[in-house]
Amino acid sequence: MKAAIIQQYGTADQLEVVANIPTPTIQADEVLVENYAISINPIDYKARQGLMQHLFKWQFPVILGWDLAGKVVAIGSAVTNFKVGDAVFARPDIDPRGKNGSYAEYTAVKADKLALKPQNISYAAASAVPLAGQTALQMLRKLEIKSGQKVLIQAGAGGVGMYAIQLAKQAGAHVVTTASQANHDFVISLGADQVIDYHKNNIQDVLTDFDAVLDTVGDVAGGISILKKGGRFLTIAASLSKEQQHSPGKVVMSGWVAPNSQDLTTLANYIANRKIKIVLDSTFPFTTAGMRAAHIRSETHHARGKIVVQIKN
Ligand SMILES: NC(=O)c1ccc[n+]([C@@H]2O[C@H](COP(=O)([O-])OP(=O)(O)OC[C@H]3O[C@@H](n4cnc5c(N)ncnc54)[C@H](OP(=O)(O)O)[C@@H]3O)[C@@H](O)[C@H]2O)c1
Repeated sequence: MKAAIIQQYGTADQLEVVANIPTPTIQADEVLVENYAISINPIDYKARQGLMQHLFKWQFPVILGWDLAGKVVAIGSAVTNFKVGDAVFARPDIDPRGKNGSYAEYTAVKADKLALKPQNISYAAASAVPLAGQTALQMLRKLEIKSGQKVLIQAGAGGVGMYAIQLAKQAGAHVVTTASQANHDFVISLGADQVIDYHKNNIQDVLTDFDAVLDTVGDVAGGISILKKGGRFLTIAASLSKEQQHSPGKVVMSGWVAPNSQDLTTLANYIANRKIKIVLDSTFPFTTAGMRAAHIRSETHHARGKIVVQIKN
C-alpha cells in the first residue's frame, strides 16, 4: 500500500509517500479501514521531530497519523458491531511499533475506537473530528462545565478550541476565548461570547473569577490565576509542577485524550443534528509535497480549524 513514512526524526522533509509498505494485518478485535481522508494534529509534527521518544520506541520506517475517515474493508473474527462497507471514522491507538498510523491507504483500528461517520458530512470533514473533538469533549467533562459557568477556552480558532467552544456553548456556559484579531469573527461564529486578542492582553490582566479554564497553549500560571475559589483548570499542552498541582482552593489537572466509540458516537450525533460544525483550514493531496506542506502549515501554530489530507475521492 501507499503510506507516508519517515526514515528518521527531523524536519517535514523527512516525510515521503512510498508505495511498497505492507498492508496491516488485523487482530480479532480490529477492522481494516481504507482511508479516504486523514487529518493532521500538532502531535504529528512533534512526533516527527522526535519529541515523543520518551514515550514511544518506534522502529523506522514510521507511519505517523492519528485521525482517519474511510470504509471498512475487513473485520476481525470478534467484531460484531461493524461490517464491510461501513463508512467510519476514528482516532486509532498509537502503535507501539510506529507502523500503524493513519498516513496510509489502510489502517488497522480496534473496533472499540470506531464510530459510524455521520452521513451529512464528507470523509474529509469526518477525518477532522476524532482526535480534536474527543479531546474537547473529554476535557470539558473533566472540567465539569455547567450551565451559566464562566469558561475560558484558549486558542479558540485551533482544532481543539473550535470543538471546545461549540461543546461548552451546548452545555450552556459563558465562553471566553483567545485568538488573533483575524480570527475574532471566526470564533464568534462558533459561539464564543467574548474574545481576547492574546497579542495585546495577558489573560490575567483582563479576566477574573472563572469557573473553568481549558488550556491548549501552556499558559498554566495565567490560567490558574484567573480561577475563582473552587475553579477547575486543565491543560493539554504543558506539564504541571507540584506547586501548580496543589494550588490552594483550586483543582489543577492535565489531560490526555482517551479515544472510544461512545464519545465519538456522541460527537457524530451532534454533527448529524447540526449542533457542531467542522471547519477545515486547508486540504492537501496525499503526495510527498502535500504531506510536507500539511506539516509545515500545522507548525505555523495558526491553522484556523483543521488541516486535512485527501487520500481517496
Ligand atoms: N493531551 C492531549 O490529549 C491533546 C490532544 C489534542 C491536542 N493536544 C495539544 O493541544 C495543543 C492544541 O492543539 P490543536 O490541535 O488545537 O492545535 P492547532 O489547531 O494547531 O492550534 C492552532 C491555533 O492556535 C492558536 N494559537 C497559537 N498560539 C496561541 C496563543 N498563544 N494563544 C491563543 N491561541 C493561540 C492559533 O490562533 P490564531 O491564529 O488566532 O493566533 C491557531 O488557530 C497542541 O499543543 C496539541 O499538541 C493535546
